[in-house]
Amino acid sequence: MTDSVTATESPSTAASVTVRVPAKVNVQLAVGAARPDGFHDLANVFLAVGLYDEVTATPADELAITCSGPDAAQVPLDRGNLAARAALALAGRYGIEPAVHLHIAKDIPVAGGMAGGSADGAAALLACDALWSTGASREELLEICAELGSDVPFNLIGGAALGTGRGELLTPLTTGGTFRWVFAVADGGLSTPVVFGEFDRLTAGTDVPEPTAAPALLDALASGDPVALAKTLSNDLQAAALSLRPSLAATLAAGTDAGALAALVSGSGPTTAFLVPDEATAHRVAAALTASGTCRTARVAVSPAPGATVV
Ligand code: C5P
Repeated sequence: MTDSVTATESPSTAASVTVRVPAKVNVQLAVGAARPDGFHDLANVFLAVGLYDEVTATPADELAITCSGPDAAQVPLDRGNLAARAALALAGRYGIEPAVHLHIAKDIPVAGGMAGGSADGAAALLACDALWSTGASREELLEICAELGSDVPFNLIGGAALGTGRGELLTPLTTGGTFRWVFAVADGGLSTPVVFGEFDRLTAGTDVPEPTAAPALLDALASGDPVALAKTLSNDLQAAALSLRPSLAATLAAGTDAGALAALVSGSGPTTAFLVPDEATAHRVAAALTASGTCRTARVAVSPAPGATVV
């Protein structure tokens, strides 16, 4: 990894390390009943999408976090930030002083259901690992990611993967081509625990089936056919997100009316995701979503995207 470290003279005097990390969309999010530990078993088909945050780790007197970007004001800069928690976890494991400044250049929607916070955790972990030359194995890094949060391991590996357990146990998946998306960014975020709580409320007294990945969806991913994928997209948290934020129904309708193949809430929301057949449609759907007044902004992105990478 030292060859890609931003070095002033040699890797041992590296001034800083920058890691680029993608957002995700869940093309299938099957949710089981709440477990005794409060988490839910999932069959979570993750797809990394080409919207990126960058985390730069620079030696400093003490742990500090800063953030830039249009939504930086919404990002907590305390030790609860997953980037800080990642640095502390790695430093603790290797007996290193966490004397590092982490700067987050934020482009992934905040609290939007696209794993932006988790992405910063994965990126900070990789950046600190390179800065401190810990020699941690990929497995160790994935273990720390899983301790940080259910989505964090996927942000590290990127591409496409099935997440089971609470989403942290990953099986990489093959994709047969590029899928194009438009994301409608809502005003304000939704809290993941609150959305899972609403899922519990809505499913109370019902028999919640074991979550399983849909074979047709995995086939569609492998084929690279967006029309086939559009028919199989599903998100068991969508009803909960819509219950908490009914206005998302108008956003979903605006995107499908404009020519999207399919629309769904991304993860726990409130970002909505629109699968489109080609670039021209992507721009048409993005323009229609923006003009509809049903979202704050619309972003165009392609998937799959690589995982966290030192740049
Ligand atoms: O793992 P993470 O910290 O991202 O999870 C945030 C919250 O989302 C959890 O505290 C829990 O309320 C909910 N969650 C869940 N089941 C999962 C993942 C997350 O209930 N599989």
